[in-house]
Amino acid sequence: MSKHLNYIAGKWVRAKRGRTFENRNPADTRELIGSFPESGAEDVEAAVQAAAAAYDRWRLMPPPAKGEIIMRAGLLLKERKEKYARLMTREMGKVLKETRGDIQEAIDMAYYVAGEGRRLFGKTTTSELKNKFAMSVRMPIGICGLITPWNFPMAIPSWKIFPALICGNTMVFKPAEDTPLSAQLFVEVLAEAGLPPGVLNLVHGSAEAGAAIVRHPRIRLVSFTGSCEVGRIVAEQCGRALKRCSLEMGGKNAQIVMADADIDLAVEGALWGAFGTTGQRCTATSRIYVEKKIYPAFLREMTRRARRIKIGSGLKPASQMGPLINAAQRQRVHSYVQSGIEEGAELLCGGKPAKGAGLTHGFFYQPTIFAGVKPEMKIIREEIFGPVTCIAPVSSLEEAIAQVNNTSYGLSAALYSRDVNRAMRAIRDIESGITYINSPTIGAEVHLPFGGVKNTGNGHREASETALDIFSEWKSVFIDYSGRLQKAQIDVD
Ligand code: UN1
Repeated sequence: MSKHLNYIAGKWVRAKRGRTFENRNPADTRELIGSFPESGAEDVEAAVQAAAAAYDRWRLMPPPAKGEIIMRAGLLLKERKEKYARLMTREMGKVLKETRGDIQEAIDMAYYVAGEGRRLFGKTTTSELKNKFAMSVRMPIGICGLITPWNFPMAIPSWKIFPALICGNTMVFKPAEDTPLSAQLFVEVLAEAGLPPGVLNLVHGSAEAGAAIVRHPRIRLVSFTGSCEVGRIVAEQCGRALKRCSLEMGGKNAQIVMADADIDLAVEGALWGAFGTTGQRCTATSRIYVEKKIYPAFLREMTRRARRIKIGSGLKPASQMGPLINAAQRQRVHSYVQSGIEEGAELLCGGKPAKGAGLTHGFFYQPTIFAGVKPEMKIIREEIFGPVTCIAPVSSLEEAIAQVNNTSYGLSAALYSRDVNRAMRAIRDIESGITYINSPTIGAEVHLPFGGVKNTGNGHREASETALDIFSEWKSVFIDYSGRLQKAQIDVD
């Protein structure tokens, strides 16, 4: 069995208390991927010390040189994309073309952030006083704690680690316990690309290690992607300690389909949005509002095509949908489905763990569609994070938008319509961080801000240049070259 380690101060080390956990293939749990350190507060402490020791040297390295390391990491990922995609599919379950996409998103992020090394723009501006100059510059925050989920085991760490690095921070990174190998591959690539020891420290483990990161007084920022439930705890603790905290949490993303839309395209988009990544995306399409006129036809076509989705190991070329990540997640999805049935929704297809050849030892679940869903039902209000979607009829765009906004989340939304006026109204009125026209709710690109409104987050946006605002502080600088004391607001006449 392969034994994996933490990466602290540039060395691969065991957890101090020697504890480990097992990582298995969710498509076939007989297959052990390896054992990983179950870290505790003492390991986080060692990682923080390493990050503190590395901080000054890293902070002072010119950003273009930092960018070069990040660029090299991106090129290495590109070289190894196929090999890593296989390892990641084996660990995480989603089909190969999707793990390739996951790595591609990290590559895109590397290229994008590497260029920031020669930008990191601040502003130069005037002064209200003579012979005085003013500007704003970014400075690093210090030691960052990064806690990431399993559904995008390379892309999401890249959204946090690359911008944190270019801004001059050092960090402790705790990936999800379901995808530690993908995190290790990512860290190895950065080490090979020339990242100095101690700048990025990898600490494997579960809630105990995560809590130690959030609590640690020398960690000045916590960036977390995961459930609302955990995000709330992270935010509370960071609030008390007055730490910066960026949260990217759930979604209950909706697609609207108007009668004037290209219906085939809308069905195809809905299938990809609802069942891509087995529905385990924070951007997944879990609600679909369809104009009454085309509602019966849309339901028929969606159900017919959902039934044809090929479920199986993500490593098999024929598979279109892999397993859920673990037993608990499958149980959670199934309880939501049961609650939908109990509350009186109409189950159109799916609703059960998937059975059959090659599926016995994995956490497979059938693509599931509900109709007849009332706004108060749990299945249309809460994030399920599985291959379950609800379809409901609407009579107008206004009603559809009101339903889309009738949620505690606000990450992503989509409108299918050929009418530009409707598209513009939807863009204006939908309360979401991301809005798509004639394209599904999943598929954000890294050079645009990623994040959502309401309970999806706490006002930050990852990716794009907005990620720099998470990982840096602004400093305003005034340079007086008058050679005398000039008092702002006073010596102005
Ligand atoms: C997530 O689901 O946590 O927009 C991230 C998308 C991907 C990222 C999803 N580019 O669906």
